Amino acid sequence: MITCSAPAKVYLFGEHAVVYNESAICCAISIRTRVNIEYSENIVINSSLGTTGIDYEIHPYVSAVVEKIRKKSPYRGVSISIESDIPVGSGLGSSAAVVVATICAFNNLLKLGMDKESIASLGHSIEKEIQGSASAADTYVSTMGGTISIPMRQHLKNPRCNLVIGNTNVFSSTGQLVAKVASLKTIYPEVITPILSTIGKASLRGESLLENEDYRALGELMDVNQGLLEAIGVSCNELSRLIHSSRAAGALGAKITGAGGGGCMVALVGNENIDAISRAIKNAGGVPIVTGVTDSGVRVD
Ligand code: MEV
Repeated sequence: MITCSAPAKVYLFGEHAVVYNESAICCAISIRTRVNIEYSENIVINSSLGTTGIDYEIHPYVSAVVEKIRKKSPYRGVSISIESDIPVGSGLGSSAAVVVATICAFNNLLKLGMDKESIASLGHSIEKEIQGSASAADTYVSTMGGTISIPMRQHLKNPRCNLVIGNTNVFSSTGQLVAKVASLKTIYPEVITPILSTIGKASLRGESLLENEDYRALGELMDVNQGLLEAIGVSCNELSRLIHSSRAAGALGAKITGAGGGGCMVALVGNENIDAISRAIKNAGGVPIVTGVTDSGVRVD
């Protein structure tokens, strides 16, 4: 039996703007999805969602990996079981993590010799196939780990801070939110384009703040980024409540991570405020997850 795991990710800066080729900064975080694989007579996929064979309703991502790999390197059957700490559909890259961990598991079981670049790239094509469109950031960051600037794909210094995530448990559709921003940009190009470009500039400035370990300024700019995300209409009451409560409890900065409209926010937090901020998120109706950046991308466990 082989076990591989891959991490979730957050955006410190740049979601939505990255769709228009502006800069973003993403961090892999230490909550992971684990995939166990072994040879078997048939294809069996087991997760908290149930036990199936190839099934694009219940296990679309893993089914797509199973079929893609089978075309590359035929095999009879495998049994795959998935355990995950990453909340599904909440903007933390749960689908990217399961895709790259499954590819890595096949890579080791079948000795395919894929390097990390090819795992990330196959992972991205599978996410695109299932979702219709997907940015390459999720699969790349989950594969490589660490703090990465997009689109340049440069590794940056990790923030030596905690990250406290707040999950609203409100469902949101990335596709609908990306379409909403695109529509605003079509109607008010002279207003929306500079906002997206300013988000990109905040992200570029964020790179040097990370290098200089200036976390106060980094948090301040995350707050500015949040203001700009509010301006393009991708926040919601639940997210704004969690963001304002964590700032009031001492976060260095707090903003949406991912598409918004629900899902999660992320707060940049020094050691002394973790408990207060977790409590504030809980009291404001969210589910806190205390985490931090990990250098460990996809790996064999
Ligand atoms: C979603 O996690 C991030 C967005 O920028 C969309 C994308 O980059 O594909 C909103």
